[in-house]
Amino acid sequence: MSIRRLPPELVNRIAAGEVVERPASALKELVENALDAGAAQIAVRLSAGGLERIEVTDDGSGMSPAEMRLALERHATSKLPDDSIDRVVSFGFRGEALPSIASVSRLRLESRVRGADGWQVEIDHGASVGDGPAALPPGTRISIEGLFDKVPARRKFLRSPRAEYAACLDAVKRLAMARSDVGFTLDHDGRRILTLQPTEPPARVAELLTHELDRHGVGIDCARDGLRLTGVISLPTFNRGVADQQYLFVNNRPVKDRLLVGALRAAYRDLIARDRHPIAALFLDIPLDEVDINVHPAKTEVRFRDPSAVRGLIVGGLRRALDAESQRSAAREQAAAPVMWTSSATYDEALNRHLRESGDPARQEAWAPALAEVTNLAETRRLFDHAPAARAEPAVEPVPSYPLGVARGQVAATYIVAEAEDGLVIVDQHAAHERLVLERMRAAREGGAVARQVLLIPEVVELDEPDCDRLEGAIADLGDMGLELERFGPTAMLVRTYPAALGKTDVAGLLADLAGEIAELGGPLSLRDKLDHVAATIACHGSVRAGRVLSVAEMNALLREMEVTPRSGQCNHGRPTWVKLGHGEIEKLFGRK
Ligand SMILES: Nc1ncnc2c1ncn2[C@@H]1O[C@H](COP(=O)(O)OP(=O)(O)OP(=O)(O)O)[C@@H](O)[C@H]1O
Ligand SMILES: [Mg+2]
Repeated sequence: MSIRRLPPELVNRIAAGEVVERPASALKELVENALDAGAAQIAVRLSAGGLERIEVTDDGSGMSPAEMRLALERHATSKLPDDSIDRVVSFGFRGEALPSIASVSRLRLESRVRGADGWQVEIDHGASVGDGPAALPPGTRISIEGLFDKVPARRKFLRSPRAEYAACLDAVKRLAMARSDVGFTLDHDGRRILTLQPTEPPARVAELLTHELDRHGVGIDCARDGLRLTGVISLPTFNRGVADQQYLFVNNRPVKDRLLVGALRAAYRDLIARDRHPIAALFLDIPLDEVDINVHPAKTEVRFRDPSAVRGLIVGGLRRALDAESQRSAAREQAAAPVMWTSSATYDEALNRHLRESGDPARQEAWAPALAEVTNLAETRRLFDHAPAARAEPAVEPVPSYPLGVARGQVAATYIVAEAEDGLVIVDQHAAHERLVLERMRAAREGGAVARQVLLIPEVVELDEPDCDRLEGAIADLGDMGLELERFGPTAMLVRTYPAALGKTDVAGLLADLAGEIAELGGPLSLRDKLDHVAATIACHGSVRAGRVLSVAEMNALLREMEVTPRSGQCNHGRPTWVKLGHGEIEKLFGRK
């Protein structure tokens, strides 16, 4: 066997496999370079989804002929200040994008520094095929043709022009959101697709996300321990079947990082069905020494020094924002309904104030007996078919100022009709109760009152040493969730209890999953995940069914608990639990207004 150095063309081709996998990734590299060059305006032109041609023109710094030659050499970069890889603020720093792309395409690079003449260089699959003067305004224009034409192994994996175009558009959108101060245009097959003027981040995001977010979005701005998170997310009731509209940025660099995506998901857990996805544009600002961006060839994944702090900020911040909005989501849903099911801003205000004021545990406790009664009664009561679909109670007592009003009757043994000071409220009793049960179980868990299954003989689970170290590091958290562990020598853990809600469970498998998850995400996710899942399932089974007749006391108890329970505005599947028809709306319906 003889060892030899690979020729540079081959090294570049191998790197191209990592950096450039399709037109969109080449396009991303070119636009990033233009941004790093200080461009104020970037024009992108594509043919056939970039399969035929990609061209990026910028008005940035430009390059001298000598710099152009260097730029096409591997590991030549102008972006590493004092060789310090830790303090990179530019998009690029590896010095491999241009030579990689040039090795698998025909590339023409034209550039002009302000006050000098323009120059151009042409490369055909890594080989220089000529250079000479070029006429262009100050800045740089790069075009790529026939990407992967001579690399059949790669070409094979390319998709239709339409699919490649979609990926290119996505890449441009992400970078345009990251840099709202820069103007962009995008043309595809001669058609103008995007024209973006320089603006502020919120306006740019609004331009590029669905306009529905004006009504269905929640603004985010929170900070903790030197980290800051800003942006916009959709209300749980406004969601999508695919996770394609999630734009995440770390220090204004677009990323597709698993930890961030996982944290976004976790924030919506049990507010949204498992196969539905929120829309989000989130910007995380983090000190440079807290994050390593040099872990992925395309720089879309990052590594955080303290992943759980990042996760905590995101899950906590989004959750708080969603909780504050949760009562409103149901009300807003009404706006889209055919009749005028709306809620006025003042109503939202009053409701939120009421929730804040009545959020104290003492008050919640006061309602507990009534609630227990609801559950018990509802569970012991026999279901029966009943002829009239509605029952009503005479309106004798005055309506006290409860946001969800006083129960007046039940329709179709499924909906509670209540009279509030400012209108008529209809509650889906099953959806509402399911939500309340889940929230109660969660509160118990967070309050440390988790039911535990005690193992008479503690179980010893063998794991490798790093996994044991990870579990040991999370012993306190896991204990809070009902999983009591102890270190048992270098390569084993002792299990004393596990959460009863999990039922009969494979303890060894659970520990292995947990250790893996801690390694990846820096937090014991799967146990929470499993518990939430189990909790949601139990909640659904333990709830007042649709079709169950309720007494007025039961209905009122349900309304009162909804008022003091966070996130009660929507069910575990993200649908609203109640809607309201204001007095004004009722009058309009009858032509009195
Ligand atoms: N549009 C441009 N305007 C001005 N200079 C550019 C432009 N594109 C590339 N360059 C110069 O060419 C060099 C090489 O670019 P290339 O993309 O290969 O590497 P990089 O951006 O430094 O790092 P990375 O491989 O991480 O993208 C850059 O460092 C920059 O100096
Ligand atoms: Mg670059």
